[in-house]
Amino acid sequence: MKIEIGKEFPEYFKPLYPEEFDLFSHFEVTAGIPTVLFAVTTWKENGQPNICFHSWSCFHGDKTAFFAVMGNLYQHTHTYANILREKCFCINFLPISHYENLVETIRHNEYEDDEFASGNFTLSNAGTIHAPMIQEAFISMECTLKEVQDLSGAGVTAMVIGQVQHISVEEEYARGYQKRYGKEGFMMLVPAPQDLVSGEPNQSAIATVNIEKYD
Ligand SMILES: Cc1cc2nc3c(=O)[nH]c(=O)nc-3n(C[C@H](O)[C@H](O)[C@H](O)COP(=O)(O)O)c2cc1C
Repeated sequence: MKIEIGKEFPEYFKPLYPEEFDLFSHFEVTAGIPTVLFAVTTWKENGQPNICFHSWSCFHGDKTAFFAVMGNLYQHTHTYANILREKCFCINFLPISHYENLVETIRHNEYEDDEFASGNFTLSNAGTIHAPMIQEAFISMECTLKEVQDLSGAGVTAMVIGQVQHISVEEEYARGYQKRYGKEGFMMLVPAPQDLVSGEPNQSAIATVNIEKYD
């Protein structure tokens, strides 16, 4: 038997906190699809470096180009304004051991804040674009802005597509599976899977990748 969930908000869904379903679609917690977590780094207009913890994304391309598709960036963030102004950004993949440092950059999110200092991260400059990078990242991608689209048209979020110009990989992570997957590798977000029978909410979870087999 399938449980069917449509566009109408299921009234039996209980929020984990009062504003949950003002912020997120009920489809998000219906599906609970994991995505990789990373940090977007940009310059603020006042010259301070900015960090944004981000999850809703995918990465792909063809023979001619490779893209970072950030499917859902809030339009109220500094990052959104910075990307529109600078036309570029860096994507930094960090292991789960840096989770709390990244949350610190959300706690200290004023315009005047140096968010590298807030998160205790080391700044290096991207080589091909005007953006700061996180030295502690095991992979960093330098992206130029390709396209921005407000998918829902509600003025709340936007899909921001970057074209990857350059990738830096920490040497310890450069040898295939070693380190890149598991506890020291990619960090994933599992969005709070709702109990679709009782409507009870759940917490979201932070995960790492466990390789099951090779193809
Ligand atoms: C685990 C986690 C994942 C997040 N994913 C996103 C995301 O995908 N898109 C987004 O706009 N904000 C996301 N956020 C919220 C931003 O990190 C937050 O709004 C941040 O303060 C924005 O920074 P800025 O204003 O300096 O750009 C996430 C937060 C956390 C804790």
